[in-house]
Amino acid sequence: PITPVILSGGSGTRLWPMSRPERPKQMLALTAEETMLQLTAMRATGEHFTAPIVVANARHADMVEEQLDSVGATAQALIFEPIGRNTAPAIALAALAADASNPLLVMPSDHVIADVAAFHAAIHAALPLVAEGWLVTFGIAPDAPETGYGWIKVGEEISGGVHRVAKFVEKPPRDRAEAMLAAGDHSWNGGIFLFRADIYLAALALHAPDMLAACQLAMAKARREGTRIFPDAEAFAAAPDDSIDYAVMEKAERVAVVPVSMGWNDVGSWDALHAISELDEAGNAHASGAAGEVIAIDTTNCLVRTDGMRVALVGVDDLIVVASGTDVLILPRGRSQEVKKLIEAMKAKP
Ligand code: GDD
Ligand code: MG
Repeated sequence: PITPVILSGGSGTRLWPMSRPERPKQMLALTAEETMLQLTAMRATGEHFTAPIVVANARHADMVEEQLDSVGATAQALIFEPIGRNTAPAIALAALAADASNPLLVMPSDHVIADVAAFHAAIHAALPLVAEGWLVTFGIAPDAPETGYGWIKVGEEISGGVHRVAKFVEKPPRDRAEAMLAAGDHSWNGGIFLFRADIYLAALALHAPDMLAACQLAMAKARREGTRIFPDAEAFAAAPDDSIDYAVMEKAERVAVVPVSMGWNDVGSWDALHAISELDEAGNAHASGAAGEVIAIDTTNCLVRTDGMRVALVGVDDLIVVASGTDVLILPRGRSQEVKKLIEAMKAKP
């Protein structure tokens, strides 16, 4: 069986004001009744999967456990990090807690996959190579020169739709992303990985031995409460902060990619959410999940979200309006990447 490993430690700042440190993006219901975390857990259930291992920040322990339990996706282990050290150490903790012979399906907790059947087919295509010790990635057809993604140069086919990774480039500069898009033989890295726990740990031993040592010590000295595991804070703090993409995927030898078309979206901004939402005849995105009241007259092509405050609009077009708690965000569609700048400006305020 495959063991799902769900990474739920990110902060998702570009979806402010709904996504906040106390309740980041993955713990919000943005695209459905369920939260992103719940949808992630639900897409890896059934006869081929064990119960998941979830890695999250300790401050969200109760929220994470409740969200999983309430959709019947109770975790086999909940690993709660004292601090975030990025994805490479987080995955190491999970690999150390897992059965070494099981393939691990590492998933971000904040993506949308519309076609789960296609996702499962890609997983099954990759399993024979995973058993042989390959590190497998999932390739998404690129349609923009994105600098926030990993890019994969797709090499020759190894077997049944699975290709060798000729080159893995994490977060390239703009000109390089443009060149890779134009070349036509690259995929985006979907951020989902499939490999055996022991193979990942062996790759860390080779490319990031200090990180592996820190994670091993943190797990050896961990505090355990039932299925909850709290790695030792001092030991874990010694792990270098790095992502799996830089620490392992750019460097490892036997890396493969399954190009897959599965309605993937990483919902990285309010514009992305508008783009994947069901729209009414006026082009407005329908809110899902827990929402306050929206009254809109003569309003077109807008995304309006509120978690309580009543929001009323007249005669506007192409706006993003998000109200949460005592905060309101208003910007024209197309500029939601700039929420990052707002967060920085707010941080700079005394
Ligand atoms: N437990 C834990 N601890 N989870 C974390 C941590 C951490 O310290 N840091 C990030 N995560 C979780 C996030 O919540 C997210 O679900 C996932 O790990 C990926 O982290 P991101 O920070 O969102 O990565 P990224 O978007 O910059 O890049 C990755 O995803 C892209 C696709 O969305 C890379 O894999 C790229 O190559 C890829 O293209
Ligand atoms: Mg991401």
